[in-house]
Amino acid sequence: MNRLIIMAAALLSLVSCSRPEPSTARRELDRLWKGSPVEFRHTPEMKAEAFGIEREGHKFVISSADDTGALYGVYSLLRDSMQIPREESPAFPLRLLNHWDNLDGTVERGYAGHSLWDWDALPDSVSPRYLDYARENARIGINGTVLNNVNASPQILSHDYLVKVARLADVFRPYGIKVYLSVNFASPMVLDSLPTADPLAAEVTDWWKNKADEIYSLIPDFGGFLVKANSEGQPGPMDFGRSHADGANMLARALKPHGGIVMWRAFVYSPIDADRAKQAYMEFQPLDGKFDPNVIIQIKNGPIDFQPREPYSPLFGAMPQTDRMVEFQVTQEYLGHANHLAFLAPMWTEFFEYVKPSSLTAIAGVANIGDSDNMTGNPLAGANWHAFGRLAWDPQLSPARIAREWIDANLLIPGSNIPDSIYSGLLDMFLTSREAVVDYMMPLGLHHIFAFGHHYGPEPWCDIPGARPDWLPKYYHCADRQGLGFNRTTSGSNAVEQYPEPLRSQLNDIDTCPEEFLLWFHHVPWTHRLKSGHTLWDELCYRYERGVSTAEDYCRRWEEARPYIRPELHADVAERLRTQAADARWWKDACLQYFREYSRLPYPTGVTAPV
Ligand code: GCU
Repeated sequence: MNRLIIMAAALLSLVSCSRPEPSTARRELDRLWKGSPVEFRHTPEMKAEAFGIEREGHKFVISSADDTGALYGVYSLLRDSMQIPREESPAFPLRLLNHWDNLDGTVERGYAGHSLWDWDALPDSVSPRYLDYARENARIGINGTVLNNVNASPQILSHDYLVKVARLADVFRPYGIKVYLSVNFASPMVLDSLPTADPLAAEVTDWWKNKADEIYSLIPDFGGFLVKANSEGQPGPMDFGRSHADGANMLARALKPHGGIVMWRAFVYSPIDADRAKQAYMEFQPLDGKFDPNVIIQIKNGPIDFQPREPYSPLFGAMPQTDRMVEFQVTQEYLGHANHLAFLAPMWTEFFEYVKPSSLTAIAGVANIGDSDNMTGNPLAGANWHAFGRLAWDPQLSPARIAREWIDANLLIPGSNIPDSIYSGLLDMFLTSREAVVDYMMPLGLHHIFAFGHHYGPEPWCDIPGARPDWLPKYYHCADRQGLGFNRTTSGSNAVEQYPEPLRSQLNDIDTCPEEFLLWFHHVPWTHRLKSGHTLWDELCYRYERGVSTAEDYCRRWEEARPYIRPELHADVAERLRTQAADARWWKDACLQYFREYSRLPYPTGVTAPV
């Protein structure tokens, strides 16, 4: 027995010696820390993508079972060479960016220029920026990228495009990043004139099987499909009288022999009478247990649509027999586009207070990346890309730590001796910024009172004859002479019933509902007293005012930090912060003036009346 163990150990060490050095990890080390005293150790018993870092005399040893683990170990060591020894492995096996990039180069809800993918030039010409992108992602542990918009053009599955996709996959592969595609459910009809896309029709299943074979012949490690079906006008199985499960399983079976997966989105809401916040649950919960093992249901963090604050989507707790993943939005569709500072780590960690990371198979973030010089438009938005990756790796990391990592590496002039007070002021800007946006846009659980279409400014009064009611802000704020807010309690739409006890009862009761969700769940009388002792109207005014003064304060703090900030960033950000402060005032003035038509109450002392 002992001899056997010794032989096995000898064999293992032979394997570990004979294994070539992880080349990407070594190349990155040489690029970023030339001559570094680092040795790689192949440790097959470690988990995939995991790494360990320890010291042996003067050298650092990075252990891993695979090349990607070694690469992650390098980036981790460069970030922190103090807390050693340590071992890390990712919380979620799949950590993906979702690009909402169209094939014509535009990016849906993108605020950082055009798409990074130059489809016209591919596959012959490969931009050096693809490599930058791969490195940036690997640095924070992203291991998958969905290249195209969920509102998918069928053309992405044409042979010409697949060859281009394969070229990108070649660039990303050494960095541990797999490529995935969003697919249009009607692709067989559009690309090859099939009379139907019915997932139970043999010609359709054959079409997808052949398409999967073609994809894998070009991209052997292709990740799989992301699907938006029967949502906002996209085709799907329900067009043919079939269910989401029928559609998802048909695609999953085409990918299965190759090891691919299907991420099927639960972002659905039909023009029916039910409260929109209830619809994804109503459509998907009955399908629990009916999906194949290589299908994951991709659910937005909240039940509506990436608002500055939403309660978690109750669907996360309602499909225990189905793999689920969360979709966050890194791009700031509803948080001031490229102009506002809104550091989103606090929003995402808030989600994890309600939904256990261990209940999820994967995590996706709608990318905020484009072809602008810094890839994120607003230089500070780089912090959100960073935060998404870091939390996808370890959701326990604190927003403060993540913000510090990013500030130190990206904002400060290297070696600048920034005084503690100025540094904390800067850090505090990041940590309070999401709450500030909530304050000046939609405090106390208000939601979706954005201008129609572009979702930038306020438009609570918006009325478009003939438009779907749930596309209009009035549907959500429900302001009337009595009060404000959407009644989702048992006496209203009863959306609370989708949440488990004791949360359900807590949300249902106006006195126990957390105030940050008050107007999400309750229609509250204008004179109802909140915990502060203020009436709803007064508290609303104070919150809007607080949001404005916080945004104004950011301009002052940024100016104070000027000597320590990289000069190429300072002026650019200063201008965006001024816009943010002006927008905050615009939001406050517009919303309070509008809601006052209903409350007919005076502005409380300390709140400046809109001009
Ligand atoms: C939002 C967004 C759309 C997007 C959709 C989605 O509604 O405004 O642009 O297509 O979400 O997530 O599918």
